[in-house]
Amino acid sequence: VSGVTQPTIGGGTGLLAILGDPIAHAQAPTLVNAALAARGLDAVLVPLHVRAAELARVVAALRAVQNFRGAVVTMPHKEAAAALLDELSPEAREVGACNVIRRDAGGRLKGTMLDGEGFVAALRRAGHEPRAKRVFLAGAGGAAGAIAFALARHGAAALTIHNRTAARGEALASRLRAARPGFDVRVAGAGPAAHDLAINATSLGLRDGDALPFDARDLRPETIVAEIVIRATPLLAEARRRGCPVVEGRPMLEEQVEQMVEFILR
Ligand SMILES: NC(=O)c1ccc[n+]([C@@H]2O[C@H](COP(=O)([O-])OP(=O)(O)OC[C@H]3O[C@@H](n4cnc5c(N)ncnc54)[C@H](OP(=O)(O)O)[C@@H]3O)[C@@H](O)[C@H]2O)c1
Repeated sequence: VSGVTQPTIGGGTGLLAILGDPIAHAQAPTLVNAALAARGLDAVLVPLHVRAAELARVVAALRAVQNFRGAVVTMPHKEAAAALLDELSPEAREVGACNVIRRDAGGRLKGTMLDGEGFVAALRRAGHEPRAKRVFLAGAGGAAGAIAFALARHGAAALTIHNRTAARGEALASRLRAARPGFDVRVAGAGPAAHDLAINATSLGLRDGDALPFDARDLRPETIVAEIVIRATPLLAEARRRGCPVVEGRPMLEEQVEQMVEFILR
């Protein structure tokens, strides 16, 4: 970003991290560091490549680091991380996952989940309202759960969940029904026919040669296709080919950056 200087790392610099596996593709470090620099904050965010089996040990270690201020949490750790914290925001508790952690001076860790509101903000930025939409959602992981609860909060009419691991899709549907009685949630097969908005909230599309997250053959040209993977994915190409309006993945992250900094360093 022009006009933004490199952070000067000194003895007093606050440490932020992003925890994920893989991590090399992550865009949050660039965006968050630019936001920290723009605000003149003496803090820096570094990527930490952490395997799932090691997450608990890493979080325990970071808890003991006195200048560790907090972390962004990315795949596949959002659900596991939530279970390791001392306190969760209402959004994180509802979803059972978190994507940001804050460490207070005493070493207490609090988590929140910004993905859902970030997705809705990006959808609106592209000119689409969630209200009254019939939504097809591929995925049932941390990001998918956050998006599902946010869509319910913002008045979506109905939600169809499609996930590779059917039991995980059923579990998300059950949590939604329990928390939002009256919200029309079902778990169904591979195609988004008769939906107004089709979302990829799986990690498919991150790697070259990945399959499409759902059967795109019955996408109608009026169906909005939203991708959360931050990349030019085959799904986006297919949706454009069919004349569908598309929402890319990057704005969802951009919409969260200020709130990430605010939650960690306030
Ligand atoms: N744009 C943004 O701001 C933003 C925010 C959050 C996440 N993301 C992206 O969203 C993706 C998901 O993140 P997450 O944190 O929700 O991850 P997660 O909790 O690990 O969930 C991953 C999801 O992808 C599915 N999946 C993975 N590999 C698959 C495959 N080969 N075939 C079919 N389904 C597969 C999983 O299905 P199973 O349940 O069957 O394993 C699960 O539904 C990541 O690519 C992440 O980078 C973007």
